[in-house]
Amino acid sequence: MKVVIENGTLVTECDVYEADILIEQGKISAIGTGFDKTDAQIIDAKGRYVMPGAIDVHTHIDLQAGDFHTCDDFLLGTRAAASGGTTTIIEHLSFGPAKCSLYDQVNAYKLRAAQKAIIDYGLHGVIQHVDERVLREMESLAAEGISSFKIYLTYDFALSDADILRVMKKAKKIGAVIAVHCENDAIIRHLRDECIKKGNRTPRAHALSRPPACEVEAIQRVLQIAHLAGDAAVYIVHLSTKEGLAMIQYARNHGQKNIYVETCPQYLLFTQEAYKREDALKYIMSPPLREKSDCDALWKGLTDGAIDVVATDHCPFEFATDKQRGKDDFTKCPNGAPGIEERVRVMFSEGVMKRKITLTTFVKLLCTNPARIYGLYPEKGTLLPGSDADLMILDAKGSYVYKAENLVGGCDYSLYEDIKLQGDICMVMQRGQVLCQDEQFFAKAGAGHFRERRVKV
Ligand code: URP
Ligand code: ZN
Repeated sequence: MKVVIENGTLVTECDVYEADILIEQGKISAIGTGFDKTDAQIIDAKGRYVMPGAIDVHTHIDLQAGDFHTCDDFLLGTRAAASGGTTTIIEHLSFGPAKCSLYDQVNAYKLRAAQKAIIDYGLHGVIQHVDERVLREMESLAAEGISSFKIYLTYDFALSDADILRVMKKAKKIGAVIAVHCENDAIIRHLRDECIKKGNRTPRAHALSRPPACEVEAIQRVLQIAHLAGDAAVYIVHLSTKEGLAMIQYARNHGQKNIYVETCPQYLLFTQEAYKREDALKYIMSPPLREKSDCDALWKGLTDGAIDVVATDHCPFEFATDKQRGKDDFTKCPNGAPGIEERVRVMFSEGVMKRKITLTTFVKLLCTNPARIYGLYPEKGTLLPGSDADLMILDAKGSYVYKAENLVGGCDYSLYEDIKLQGDICMVMQRGQVLCQDEQFFAKAGAGHFRERRVKV
């Protein structure tokens, strides 16, 4: 099937220009004008932006966390993603049983995603302990296209510093990226106990028990260990603090290479004030929300290139049920919030329209950098001849308001409800097939492909 997208304004990480796109066999075959349109499906994008499909490299669509399970599965979650302009995700896996093989979760997720995902997906391996088998499995998984691994410095499977070093050395050897959740576990446990002793179990205590210092210390430690491992490639997930960003810039300015940084819309747009709200449980996530000065520093980091990626950490738990478990005790509330459906519209409205982030920077942060860092480029994350025809058409003159009752995903709330967002997504395409248009879906469960990724580090 041949498709021509005509009259649109194309936006890539380096250019904004008018041209038509010719799509054949699911790939962009040419960009220009005057294409032969015989037997082609014509899509008119006049007055609109044509951008690469967005990539969300930090999702927990189908997560088991203790007793809780996220309220999306791969069908609901990837439909939500597609409805919001995201055409590829890389999912972070649940922990498996103690001492399990890395394949335990990878195999389970591959099965579930293959049956249900409507968009393309990759998986990050999760390392919850380190031994010779795990180190060998990192190598075999990387060869099979799972070339990034997540480690946690908090929660039940926080790695020791020595194990982090072993993982980093292995990553350096095999060419893998290590994504790190940076929070100091011991201090969190101590401060949490203090809050409880004082009888403070409110949502506000969630933030008090995870102060900026926890993130900053963990970032510094991880960067030092990555440096010790020969500048192993390290990707800091969900950065929330100005001091953390300063620490990262310090390391870069002193010559450390292969440091990548992600933040998420919630850390740009909300502050700890949210923990005083009646619906504060919606905002219980780790790391917690911070101060306005942190938001400002993160926005600056997006424009000056210090931050590479805006992802979501999409981790949806129902407010009416699961989140209520934290009503009288914040420690019982499952951590996380949804965002996969909203990220592109929110960042376009708040970033491009309101704060004048350039269109090329917008594409870099949401499409190209995630693809480059995690081994999907140039098939994904850009508009080039030979790239997958994954794209979205965005109308800057349109607007959109998220309402709980209209959400595509499985969650019963959005952090962005009732905000009038400038700009709207009119059409989303993957590999030349329209995934959704004007709120209608055309892709079937299982249409998404597992994407092997080989990172270049
Ligand atoms: O609160 C959060 N972010 N939950 C998801 C798991 C994680 O920490 O990334
Ligand atoms: Zn996460």
